[in-house]
Amino acid sequence: MIPRAKQAGIALRVVAAVDRSGFVFEQRGLSRRRLEDFVAGKEAGRKIAGMPGGRAAGVAEAIAEIARHALSRPILVDVTAEDTAAVLRQWLASGHDLVLANKKPLAGPLEQARGLLDLARSRGRRILHETTVGAGLPIIDTLYKLVESNDRILRIVGCTSGTLGFLLGEIQKGRPFSGALQEAMKLGYTEPDPREDLSGMDVARKALILGRLVGFEGELDRIEVESLVPEALRGVTREEFLRRTGEMDRALEERSREAQAGGGFLRYVASITRRQVKVGLQAVPASSPFASLKGTDNQVAFTTVRYRRNPLVITGPGAGPDVTAAGVLNDILSLAGSA
Ligand SMILES: NC(=O)c1ccc[n+]([C@@H]2O[C@H](COP(=O)([O-])OP(=O)(O)OC[C@H]3O[C@@H](n4cnc5c(N)ncnc54)[C@H](OP(=O)(O)O)[C@@H]3O)[C@@H](O)[C@H]2O)c1
Repeated sequence: MIPRAKQAGIALRVVAAVDRSGFVFEQRGLSRRRLEDFVAGKEAGRKIAGMPGGRAAGVAEAIAEIARHALSRPILVDVTAEDTAAVLRQWLASGHDLVLANKKPLAGPLEQARGLLDLARSRGRRILHETTVGAGLPIIDTLYKLVESNDRILRIVGCTSGTLGFLLGEIQKGRPFSGALQEAMKLGYTEPDPREDLSGMDVARKALILGRLVGFEGELDRIEVESLVPEALRGVTREEFLRRTGEMDRALEERSREAQAGGGFLRYVASITRRQVKVGLQAVPASSPFASLKGTDNQVAFTTVRYRRNPLVITGPGAGPDVTAAGVLNDILSLAGSA
């Protein structure tokens, strides 16, 4: 099979990399070697401004500098976990496309999220954000395909946290929560602060993004969210939280045992309609497709007018750098290949 990008003669170049310290820019494209050096440097805790060719700058200044060059069809890829809406507006206002793995800009205030989408549309540009839900799984793409073929979404139910799926699976096998969390962090499954996952807020943001696509007009604080983080560990620093995760072992082990005693499995489930979005722990029966989920697998079931009796289900790994990077690349190729 000839890849569609090849058929369309698309050649991608990475011309810049930005972090909070500054940026590096090379109009002809950064070589593979330099990109690998940047990745190794970041993994070793270094900052871009201090790497060869790096320049110290604020993020807004870096984006303005990159946007002012005559580049062919530039695409900004936001893989931060920050509220970057102001910088993204600046980029979109220059008439360029955007790919997001970062959920925050679209799960912030409704007016802000709509503002970004409207701004892109007004400039004839697009925002693609497949990896904001389910990493590399084609969940948002499927949603668009259903709606564009005149189906109507009635309900979306999903286990959309690879991290929580992995942790609950390990607890079910009898492993203490704290040990499982350490491994999940090492494997790159968690958000930079794992409380984003454990508080349910990461799932809530994904659910809000899906909800808004089907017409839910609420804000994040209108979502019912069950947090797994006890009160005492919510306000402490990330470091202190990581030292004290053992305090969560017993409660989670008990919840899992209770679910198993009733013949079920503990899962963290998002339930979405255009009127209501809620996320929390549920004991799902052994007959539920959610019961068979393994590792970081995500599952999303669309009940629609066309798929009413037998929902359309998407299942697969929903976390990890490899699958996320593949999803981001697909979004980039899709933008680069469109008119
Ligand atoms: N990992 C996954 O499985 C997965 C799946 C789907 C989606 N995502 C999303 O992908 C995003 C990144 O996750 P990650 O685990 O790769 O995070 P990460 O390891 O913390 O990487 C974030 C990178 O962005 C830079 N950065 C942070 N804030 C910035 C800002 N305001 N402006 C410019 N650069 C900034 C950081 O560098 P400095 O801190 O040095 O500035 C760092 O290089 C998150 O939004 C996450 O939700 C991840």
